[in-house]
Amino acid sequence: MSDQKRGMHGIWAGRWTFILAATGSAVGLGNLWKFPYITGENGGGAFVLVYLACILLAGIPVMLGEALLGRKKRMSPIHTMESMTDETGAPKFFRGIGWMGALSGFFILSFYSVIAGWALVYVGKIASGAFVGINAEGSGAAFGAMLADPVGLTIWHTVFMFLTGAVIARGVNKGLEASLRILMPVLFVLMLILFGYSLTTPGFMQGFHFLFDFDASKLTTESIVVALGHSFFTLSLGMGAIMAYGAYMPAKQSLGKTIMWVGVLDTAVALVAGMIIFAIVFSNGLEPSAGPGLMFVSLPIAFGGMPGGIFFGTVFFILVSIAAWSSAISIAEPAVAWAVEKGFTRLTASLAICGFAWFLGLGTVLSFNEWAEYKLFGKTFFDTLDFLTSNIMLPLGGLLIAVFVGWFMSSDMIKNEMKMKNDTLFNVWRFVVRFISPVAIALIFINGLGLF
Ligand code: PHE
Repeated sequence: MSDQKRGMHGIWAGRWTFILAATGSAVGLGNLWKFPYITGENGGGAFVLVYLACILLAGIPVMLGEALLGRKKRMSPIHTMESMTDETGAPKFFRGIGWMGALSGFFILSFYSVIAGWALVYVGKIASGAFVGINAEGSGAAFGAMLADPVGLTIWHTVFMFLTGAVIARGVNKGLEASLRILMPVLFVLMLILFGYSLTTPGFMQGFHFLFDFDASKLTTESIVVALGHSFFTLSLGMGAIMAYGAYMPAKQSLGKTIMWVGVLDTAVALVAGMIIFAIVFSNGLEPSAGPGLMFVSLPIAFGGMPGGIFFGTVFFILVSIAAWSSAISIAEPAVAWAVEKGFTRLTASLAICGFAWFLGLGTVLSFNEWAEYKLFGKTFFDTLDFLTSNIMLPLGGLLIAVFVGWFMSSDMIKNEMKMKNDTLFNVWRFVVRFISPVAIALIFINGLGLF
């Protein structure tokens, strides 16, 4: 039976490694690049509030469920869900959680690597001093020029995919652990420095109000769907990444507290990134709704105008790249772990999965230039993949996980695994994961598909 595969990938060496690895997975382009630009596109405050509600009522409860499933079975998400459906007698379609997750991971990895490639380009650009004294117009033009060059984009997409594959091939237990221990804290410190800088800009308060003033008239059905989808994307949920990482978690560690920490850190990074970026946006007359270029156009203006900007800017984009890297690794892990359980070596599995994702990524590269005019339902190739994964596949995966954990696993089964000492907290979580999360996800979903 598939249970023989239990534990074949090893356990995280350190007590804190799961927190580091899960935070490394959660904190990435989703927080620094995507959150600010979709907030800008969806009108600010009201969107942010819905996003926070989704994190609390769907994201964190589902995250706990995912980590729990992973640790219980200690296998890839595909085999974990096979074994769990057998054990609980749940309908076989719950196995789809594993399969759909691996497929979403593959789609996400393809475009994630292209955007991370942009960050790599910016490391070089800032270090070369190209942005010193730059204004909004110059920064916008530089970003446009980068997008217009498919060959350049492909080169950096290739470099990033190669770096990702290299770590996955070695196994996430080796290498990842040591580097994250240093890099995550450095990222936090740098964000605080940038935050300090943003406080001195004239547009800070305007940005703050944009992010936090609630204006219900700006909420649309679509923006609620986007907020829900993003809460899954940013916490790495609904596709098995956290399940895969949970599988490597020491048995004694308390799950509840750990997951709370990851959720809080991830949300804090997104909000701070939002405050920094919108301060710069409003100080320089940029459009909040500029789209995917928002971070790449706004931050160079700040770095170009501040003392030590070349140094801070270079370090910052290196950190963005690293944050993206540690996320990309977790995006591929569910599929790779499955292939390894099927008997492939990690090297072959990583090469195949990263290779295919690389190829698919070329579609995203071209969607910013040669194919920019080719649209399906008004969406480019990149928009389509992003929409399909964030707004459909991840929430659907999350919904199935919530229902599975809430309705097909017994209280005792969960308690045994969770080691949660506080009964009230357990009951609250169980109630939320049984009733609130599935209903909320389902409603937003059905509504978003225009079915009622
Ligand atoms: N959470 C990551 C980010 O915010 C992206 C991610 C999505 C990682 C899905 C794993 C799984 O950048």
